[in-house]
Amino acid sequence: TQQPSGGEDKKPANSLERIQAEGVLRVGIDASYPPMEFVDEDGKTPIGFDIDMAGAIAEKLGVKAEFVIIDWSGIQAGLLGGHYDAIMSSMTITEDRQKEMDFVQYITMGISYASRPGVEVKTDADLAGKVVVVQEETTAQYYIEDLMANQGIQPKELRSFPYATDAFRELANGMADVVAIDSPVAGYYAKLDPDLYRVTGAAEMEPDPIGIALRKGETELREAIQKAVDELKADGTLQQLAVKWFGD
Ligand code: ARG
Repeated sequence: TQQPSGGEDKKPANSLERIQAEGVLRVGIDASYPPMEFVDEDGKTPIGFDIDMAGAIAEKLGVKAEFVIIDWSGIQAGLLGGHYDAIMSSMTITEDRQKEMDFVQYITMGISYASRPGVEVKTDADLAGKVVVVQEETTAQYYIEDLMANQGIQPKELRSFPYATDAFRELANGMADVVAIDSPVAGYYAKLDPDLYRVTGAAEMEPDPIGIALRKGETELREAIQKAVDELKADGTLQQLAVKWFGD
């Protein structure tokens, strides 16, 4: 009998090997979150901090990054269902999410309050009596809900929307007073149109850890991505991307 030839037709032993055999790292994004992940003027080419970061990580793995655009509400299910290999969508590493996915942290960010002209929300307490909007199922929503349940801070209303872009549209239309959202996104809108949006304050919290989400137990892939992130931090790439996209 012949020994199986350990060559071309060998099945990949793990997802890192499969990704390298295919030459593609598939990354799930909600592309309505500038400057983190959004689309170019053509309406379809993904751009942003996470897009560049994913490209740099893929390069370290010797493959290309390919992006799958998906709603935030379905982004975890898409990963677990195998539609892509990683989520890079400014996802905060929370205890609940760690029950479902593994994470490689790459940055941190706080939550800012972007308000319409004439409204000043400097502190958490200033949210009292305001119409507050958030993207649904985000840590900004959970944060405001916690203030309401445990800190006795009562907005006039808390409304959540599927996309961050919806939340800012409410603000622009004068339908809401303040958007609570990851700081880079608040800063992006304030710079884009200072007549409509201003960052007047921030949530009173430590910055959140943001991570690349992977399916649980894909150890080789997680370690390779961790190594890539460490290198991109050490060689200044991550800092360069922060300057490029956040301007600091
Ligand atoms: N950091 C927040 C969270 O993880 C919001 C992230 C939303 N990301 C996006 N691309 N819409 O809950």
